[in-house]
Order: sequence, then structure tokens, then C-alpha cells
Amino acid sequence: GLPEKVRIVEVGPRDGLQNESGPVISTDIKVELINRLADAGMQYIESASFVSPKWVPQMGDASAVMAGISRREGVVYAALTPNLKGLEGAIAAGVEEVAVFGAASESFSQKNINCSIAESLARFIPVIELAKQHDIRVRGYVSTVLGCPYEGDIDPAQVASVSRELLDMGCYEISLGDTIGVGTPTKARKMLARVANEVPVTKLAAHFHDTYGQALANLYAVMQDGISVIDTSVAGLGGCPYAKGASGNVATEDVVYMLNGLGIKTGVDLDKLVEIGNWITRQIGRNNGSKVGLALGCD
Ligand code: HMG
Ligand code: MG
Repeated sequence: GLPEKVRIVEVGPRDGLQNESGPVISTDIKVELINRLADAGMQYIESASFVSPKWVPQMGDASAVMAGISRREGVVYAALTPNLKGLEGAIAAGVEEVAVFGAASESFSQKNINCSIAESLARFIPVIELAKQHDIRVRGYVSTVLGCPYEGDIDPAQVASVSRELLDMGCYEISLGDTIGVGTPTKARKMLARVANEVPVTKLAAHFHDTYGQALANLYAVMQDGISVIDTSVAGLGGCPYAKGASGNVATEDVVYMLNGLGIKTGVDLDKLVEIGNWITRQIGRNNGSKVGLALGCD
């Protein structure tokens, strides 16, 4: 059956903006976006990424973003940290939760973080240890769980094994990334079933990009199998700089609208979210990628 409640992880300020190829978006806009998302009831906002600014110029102001936001009680402001250098930056910026990110595909791992899957996992061990010492919770991502831009199909057993290793290292939750949005519902359920053999489904999240317009259908499918944490991006912003053709994450507005219709609680104010989606897309000169945002937007 479907879950009663879904926890939404808003990744727009990070996954949504990291891929913008134009001029670097100002810190003020990023800070306003995060503050407004918190005001709309979002309880978990992935706000920044402590990665190499040469690799991802849009995230080069991670420390300034973290310093600029007005922290709300009960809201988690998280950041990506691929290595110790990233975690040290996050700690200095007062980040209370971080994420490491690996992949189920060797080629994607190489292109994204410049190392093999095994090297990446070895690199995460000291990151997770140091985070623990600072009482910082660590989330783990696995990319390319339903397909890779370089290798095509990915064996669900490989997704399961990387997920299991991240869990065993100390990640409290594993977010399964359909990085290039190629999945379809039955494929998503089969992948999930294999991963759930290794990791309890209550510790798994769905991070689906909407490149092929399948994300809502895939989410509805995996919710039937116990997924109750969903990563989304306001206005469907974003993509991945190392995944050719990747479009944004599934739009937060679209997911909230669907969940409202299903009677599933999220605690998010859809009207405010729609305003935010229209505002941020105007700021960065993008089309709104949310159907619900277009339908309900008044300007
Ligand atoms: P590298 O070049 O192999 O690392 O990069 P290195 O240790 O040799 O360092 C090279 C340079 O980077 C050095 O500077 C380091 O100081 C610097 P230099 O001496 O040349 O001036 N450096 C850093 N600077 C700032 N922060 C850091 C950092 N680390 C090293 N943390 C590295 C390895 C992982 C750093 C690099 O490949 C990188 O930053 N990659 C970014 C990848 C990325 O951000 N991808 C997008 C996020 S993942 C994603 O979107 C998928 C997800 O959404 C799920 C899904 O959809 O599937 C999560
Ligand atoms: Mg992503």
C-alpha cells in the first residue's frame, strides 16, 4: 500500500542550480531560494555542495550560502561532501548534515568524481568517521541506478551492493538516483526489490530525474513498495553536469500535487511552492519545468 506520510528532500538549491551553464548565480538568490523553501514548509533542503569549484563553478560559494541563510528550527540544511576537504569546508560552515555520492556505474563514477567505485567508497570511510565525530549525519547517494549515460543498463545487483556498502559504512539513508531519468515503473520496482534485499526499504529514498517524463509514474510505483522519502527540485530545476541529456529532478510542485491528491501528508504549502518556482525560474531565465507550477502560476 501507499505510505501515510512522505518526507520530501528538496534538492533544488543544489542539484537544481549546480548545472546552470550561464553566469554564476548570485549567493543572494541562492540564499533567498533556500529561505523561501523553508518558509513553504520544506523540512530538508540540500543547500550547497562542497565540491571543487573548477568542476562545478555554480557551487563555488557554498560557504557563503551556508553563512547567509536564516536557519529555521526543525529544518535540515544539508550539503554534498565528496571527500575530506569538502567535509572540512562543511564543518567550518556549520552544516549539520552532509551527503556522500557514489555510483552504480564505473564510467559514471570516473566522469563524476574522477575515481573508481571502489576508490570512492574507500574515500567515504574517513569522511563518515569525521562526520560522526562532529555529530553530523551522512546520507549516501547512488547514481545511475536505472541506467547510465555511458554504459546503458545497470545490473540491480550492483546498485544493491554499493547501497549496502554505504549503509554499512554509516550512512543513515541511501538515495537511489535515476540520474538520467531513463527508468520506467516496472524496472524501478525490480531494481528496488533487489536493493531492498540488502537495505531495509525504510532506509531508502527515491531521487528521480524527469528527463523522459517518467518520474511521477516511477515514484508512484516505488511508493507501493514502501518508499516514503522522495527527492525533488522546485520548478524541476537542474540536471547533472556529467550526465549528458540529464534534465532536472522531478518537480517538487508536481510531487506535492500528486501526494495531496493521494491524501498523503507532506507538510508543504503548494501555493507558496508554486510562487517560488515561478520566481526562481524568472531569476535565472529558465522555463518552469513543473506542470503544476505552470497550471497554478498566476504570472
Ligand atoms: P580530483 O581532481 O580528482 O581531486 O577531484 P583532487 O583531490 O586531485 O583535487 C584536485 C583539486 O580540487 C585541488 O585543487 C583540490 O584542492 C580541489 P588544486 O590544487 O588543483 O587547486 N578540491 C576541492 N576543492 C573544493 N572542495 C573540495 C575539493 N576536493 C578537491 N571538496 C572531486 C575529485 C570529487 C573533488 C571532483 O571530481 C569534484 O569536485 N567533482 C564534483 C562532482 C559533482 O559535484 N557532481 C555533481 C553532484 S553528484 C549528482 O548530481 C548526482 C546526484 O544528484 C544523484 C543522481 O542524480 O544520481 C547526487
Ligand atoms: Mg541528481
